[in-house]
Amino acid sequence: MSLTEQQIRLIQRSFDLVRPISDAAAALFYQNLFEIDPSLRQLFKSDLHNQGRKLMAMLDAAVKGLNQPDKLVPVLEQLARRHIQYGVKTSHFSPVGNALLYTLAEGLEDEFTPETKAAWIAVLHLVADVMKAEMKRQGCS
Ligand code: HEM
Repeated sequence: MSLTEQQIRLIQRSFDLVRPISDAAAALFYQNLFEIDPSLRQLFKSDLHNQGRKLMAMLDAAVKGLNQPDKLVPVLEQLARRHIQYGVKTSHFSPVGNALLYTLAEGLEDEFTPETKAAWIAVLHLVADVMKAEMKRQGCS
């Protein structure tokens, strides 16, 4: 894991601001995602409100777990294996990452400084790299 302590602090501090508005942030995230790639809508079969809560809870855990990467990696690998069952492909991480960045920019406004944005890009790459590597190990494209 290649995040600096300063980046971890920026991520954790910015997520503290997202937590109180997490339902709205999740709704905005799906809106952004389906605008970027409408074909992804059909992968989401269950209630998006609940799904949004699960997404935010997992991001919360990932953000808190950045200080303990050894514990985070197996959780992300399990998450990746479940995502194969949902029909997710490794190419889907790019639209999802972009939708998350747009959502953070809209939600955090001035707090989303270039430094904070760079830290989030590093985290999203990290999460996507761990998940995509596990998906490829399982034979997923
Ligand atoms: C940033 C990385 C990601 C995180 C942290 C994440 C998190 C989650 C979580 C926590 C769930 C709830 C179910 C479970 O725990 O297995 C979930 C389900 C799901 N995710 Fe992700 N996810 C990520 C990337 C993606 C990508 C790239 C896609 C592709 C579009 C995707 C599509 C889905 C779908 C289709 C479901 C199931 C929804 C349903 O049952 O209706 N996720 N995700």
